[in-house]
Amino acid sequence: MAQLLSNEEINKIQRSVDIVEVIGSYINLEKKGKNYFGVCPFHDDHTPSLSVSREKGLYSCFTCGHTGTVFKFVEDFENVSFIEAVKIVADKAGIKLDLDFKENSKYESMYEAYDLAIKFYQNNLKSKQGHAAHEYLNKRGLSDEIIDEFEIGYASPDSDTLTKLLRAKEFDEEEMINAGLINRGNSVYDLFRDRITFPIHNAQGKPVAFSARIYEKKDNEAKYINTKETPIFKKGEILFNYHRARNEARKLKQLIIVEGQMDAIRVYASGIKNVVATMGTALTDYHIRLLSKLNVEIILCLDNDSAGEKATFAIADMLENANIDFRILRLVGEKDPDEYIIAHGVDAYKDAINHAVSYFDFKKKIYSKNKDFKNEVDVTNYINSMLEELSKKDDDVLIEATINNLSEEFSISKATLIKKLNSFEKKTPVKKKTPVINQKEKKERLNYEDSLSELLIYYMISDVKYIKLYEQELSYLNNEKYYSIASDILAFYLKYNYINMADFIVNERDSEYLDDIIRIVDSNYNLELVDNDFVGLIEKLKEISVVNEVDKKLTDISNSTDINEQMNLLNKLMDIKKKEV
Ligand code: CTP
Ligand code: MN
Repeated sequence: MAQLLSNEEINKIQRSVDIVEVIGSYINLEKKGKNYFGVCPFHDDHTPSLSVSREKGLYSCFTCGHTGTVFKFVEDFENVSFIEAVKIVADKAGIKLDLDFKENSKYESMYEAYDLAIKFYQNNLKSKQGHAAHEYLNKRGLSDEIIDEFEIGYASPDSDTLTKLLRAKEFDEEEMINAGLINRGNSVYDLFRDRITFPIHNAQGKPVAFSARIYEKKDNEAKYINTKETPIFKKGEILFNYHRARNEARKLKQLIIVEGQMDAIRVYASGIKNVVATMGTALTDYHIRLLSKLNVEIILCLDNDSAGEKATFAIADMLENANIDFRILRLVGEKDPDEYIIAHGVDAYKDAINHAVSYFDFKKKIYSKNKDFKNEVDVTNYINSMLEELSKKDDDVLIEATINNLSEEFSISKATLIKKLNSFEKKTPVKKKTPVINQKEKKERLNYEDSLSELLIYYMISDVKYIKLYEQELSYLNNEKYYSIASDILAFYLKYNYINMADFIVNERDSEYLDDIIRIVDSNYNLELVDNDFVGLIEKLKEISVVNEVDKKLTDISNSTDINEQMNLLNKLMDIKKKEV
């Protein structure tokens, strides 16, 4: 892995920020004793189980076990890479990272080109050329404020104005073609012409593409054209408006998914900011992971047509398989949230959100649609579909309630319904909910020696005086893993002449033992260090190592057939025994 910044530089950044301040900029923290507490954003919770220690430079959640440095928090909260997290933290500290960090980011010039194109198109929209497009947007009820916030613009009918601008700014033409901003035929030309431009950002908020809409009827032209896949625009990784919606979604514990960007913009502009759009594409596993990590309830509100219904089933299946909480909102009357809000107002939409239904209830509605319950074939089909769905549930109350309802509604005995239900049961095994993985419960059982070694390591990462004592008194641990960690701590101290947990963890981020180090730090998080205890630890580990050696020598002696060698081993054993006193 290419090292963009040295560990020293990264740790300098870490030491120049206050972890309480940085984490406090994402979640609410309250001081209690020495530490600060907040609601952990990494699992579903309402009680403040995340504690942040200024002194240690670390945070730890005592419920889900999420632990780490300020970088780790930003990495997982913002869903960015380690090095991007370092950059974000550096920004907060007002530290300018040297230029070669920027140049090292392979696609930086593509993002810059998009920034430039966005501004260029925005400006066009405000010019005379963009007047009709601007008017179209205003007529659709988008205020100039929202147009600005979403950086909506206009690509003029000219064939190469953006091409010329990029050229003037000395962007590499091949790269700009790769970025999907321009293209080459007989000559180089702009991709978007005479369309309204909607910038699309990635999860980190960087502009990576455009969706461009016609604003007056045009035959044989697609309503929208979008940037093709590029190195920075992977359709399967994008949710429109995700970067704006994420924090609000975390706050409200809910995210609304709609189909079109105009819907997302309308919902957002109405003050409901926790909304993203799929942009009419299917969801991918990547999306599901993104949503799963967000850990909020999803409200699925796709278009009110058959395509929307089909997509609802597909996405709902994925959400259900991933154990993500969700409800479904099918709008009545209007085609999509945009039209719904225009027709009925935002309060009606909010009310509809509150009345979103479970996947089961959604299916119930869909299966009973267009059915004539006076016709026994329709009744049979409906009941069978319902029972098949019900067979996938493991909620006894739901099962009994549904059976009772069906029995009453159609005058069919419960016994018959249950028999039918059971006939499905084998075919579709019930998926048991997997609980949130609790890292603390996952903790392996340690033997006595290993638990002493872990404690020793915790002391060593906490204070250099324990590193010195270890070096003088022991400088060895039986278990290779712990010996390696202790050696790394010693090496860190010898190199930098100090120790602190957060910096050491950063230092070890590529180590195969990083998880062990984090676990050791976490499981001793609130331990008070007592010098005498450490001395006791060293003594016990020495004893164990003597016992181990004696054991080994005794075995060697009994295995040996050579009397001279036996004598030799016996002498060595005496030496070891002497050490003991
Ligand atoms: N879409 C697309 N290309 C098309 C049509 C649609 O990329 N030719 C994507 C767009 O991202 C669009 C989404 O699919 O936002 C949903 O399509 P649709 O429901 O047809 O558009 P609306 O969101 O209703 O757009 P508008 O209200 O502007 O007509
Ligand atoms: Mn629409």
